[in-house]
Amino acid sequence: MCGIVAYIGPREAYPILMKGLQRLEYRGYDSAGICMLNDDLKVFKCKGKVADLEEYVRGKDLKGTIGMAHTRWATHGEPNQINAHPHFSQNKRLAIIHNGIIENYAALRSELKNRGYTFTSDTDTEVLVHLIEDIKSHEKVSLEEAVRIALNQVIGAYAIVVLSKTSPDKIIAARKGSPLVIGIGKDEYFVASDATPIIEYTDNVVFLNDEEIAIIRRNEKLKIRTVRNQDKTPYIQKLEMSLNAIEKGGYEHFMLKEIFEQPRSIRDSMRGRLHLDLGLVTLGGIRDYEQKLLNAKRIIITACGTSWHAGLVGKYLIEDLARITVEVEYSSEFRYRNPIISEEDVVIAISQSGETADTLAAIELAKGKGATVLGICNVVGSSIARATHAGVYTHAGPEIGVASTKAFTAQVAVLTLWALLLAQRRGSMPMSQFRRILGELNTIPDKVEHTLKVNDKVRDIAATYINVTNALYLGRGINFPVALEGALKLKEISYIHAEGYPAAEMKHGPIALIDEHMPVFVIATRRGTYEKVISNIQEVKARKGQIIAIINEGDETVRKLADHYIEIPETEEMLVPLIATVPLQLLSYHMAVMRGCNVDQPRNLAKSVTVE
Ligand code: M6R
Repeated sequence: MCGIVAYIGPREAYPILMKGLQRLEYRGYDSAGICMLNDDLKVFKCKGKVADLEEYVRGKDLKGTIGMAHTRWATHGEPNQINAHPHFSQNKRLAIIHNGIIENYAALRSELKNRGYTFTSDTDTEVLVHLIEDIKSHEKVSLEEAVRIALNQVIGAYAIVVLSKTSPDKIIAARKGSPLVIGIGKDEYFVASDATPIIEYTDNVVFLNDEEIAIIRRNEKLKIRTVRNQDKTPYIQKLEMSLNAIEKGGYEHFMLKEIFEQPRSIRDSMRGRLHLDLGLVTLGGIRDYEQKLLNAKRIIITACGTSWHAGLVGKYLIEDLARITVEVEYSSEFRYRNPIISEEDVVIAISQSGETADTLAAIELAKGKGATVLGICNVVGSSIARATHAGVYTHAGPEIGVASTKAFTAQVAVLTLWALLLAQRRGSMPMSQFRRILGELNTIPDKVEHTLKVNDKVRDIAATYINVTNALYLGRGINFPVALEGALKLKEISYIHAEGYPAAEMKHGPIALIDEHMPVFVIATRRGTYEKVISNIQEVKARKGQIIAIINEGDETVRKLADHYIEIPETEEMLVPLIATVPLQLLSYHMAVMRGCNVDQPRNLAKSVTVE
């Protein structure tokens, strides 16, 4: 979604802002713009990529030590130059950049039109900057006060930065529902949608809370005030992110780097939590809520996209190992369907970014109904991490590629620990079985490392299928969500239509699609429903479908049936998703690259979906 970056300090702002925009590109966007404040507000913007903006501003006056820049992901109004941010107020003395949606923009717009304001764009954002100007000029108040009063009239979500020609040493920033981080350097401040544009300058940051306004003045201490006019003391935190983590490190794409990081990210997500020697699992973040979880009649997992798929794996794990009922809901459905939730329920919200608007709304709904809400998040300090009562961080590290890869396996690793912890406390499985799974889980990072060796073979297989228009992914039991995830990965980065199905469901509809052109990716590892999956493979073969099977090393039976096979190491049935997902990620990656797609920033997609 939209990216925000702003700077005030002794250095030239332009290079910092441009680099910041490049760092934010991963969030997904369709236009970009910049505003420099040097005597006047100078705004330059265009449709397209940050590189297009760089080209567009070449030779222009970009001097100044204060400025802001934006990448826009269109919501109101098509992606074009006019709708790109920043937007001017009518008198051109104010400029704004915005992430989020002003829901009551239509009413505000017609009110402002009646007062003589004219609008040049189709955006909700322009309404806000006119409103601030209107308040500032009529009530003769400071910029921060005008912003505060305006925000009291706004319904919706926002992260904004406002610059004023008449206050050349001041940045006003505010948030509600969309993230904003302020970096504090020596005599300088940075503002950004996330920490990636800030990390190379300072690791001292303040995460703004909802309805907080930051008043950032040159050479002065940061001030924070709420929209209800209460002063707050800024809470300065240390960033733990490293610069290496947000750079490609020699890989062609972030997605490939992140796929290859999985042995480490899974290990890091289990570190200090899986105690093999003691035969124990601990999750410090939810320790205070363990009893609540153990008493829960039901757990509801809510999430979107890939995180929802991880949640589905979590259902198989928790129900099978800990024998607690688990429901898994898309946050976007959950929030609007008046679900039955009681104080006895425990809701687990899963999110890589920690900023997904629908998941945040689902959390608020569940909290409002008295449920205990726990989180599984990757981004430290994110909105979801803060909105939940408690939670567990995955330690996947920053995920820059829009297609979620290492975040998924890290979420599944944490959910596996979570299920084992509940199983142990409830005594729902024999200690010998518990220890066996724990021991096996400990070997997963090495097995993923080993699995990554299939990369060259996967690339060759991918080459066979780059011109297909459809693909089917089949799996059973705990591998059904893996099939869903495989299909999502392919469609989002290669634009090939793909569907994931429980293998046996195929005959209830999708089998009609199978002919010699249809690749069918099947997770056919030993154990569980292996024999049944073999029957499903036969059904596909009987209709001339192409089988690409994920099999265990040395499995001659499926090898003979499959057109192509990818071997992975054997493991416990419950742990297969942690390994079987990896070759499917690689397949999607190579198919997308060979089709010439932008794998790290696929069209129309945003990394963190901060609007509903
Ligand atoms: O940040 P979140 O995990 O809450 O994001 C949820 C989805 O938007 C995300 O998983 C999306 O489906 C990815 N692009 C999938 O690769």
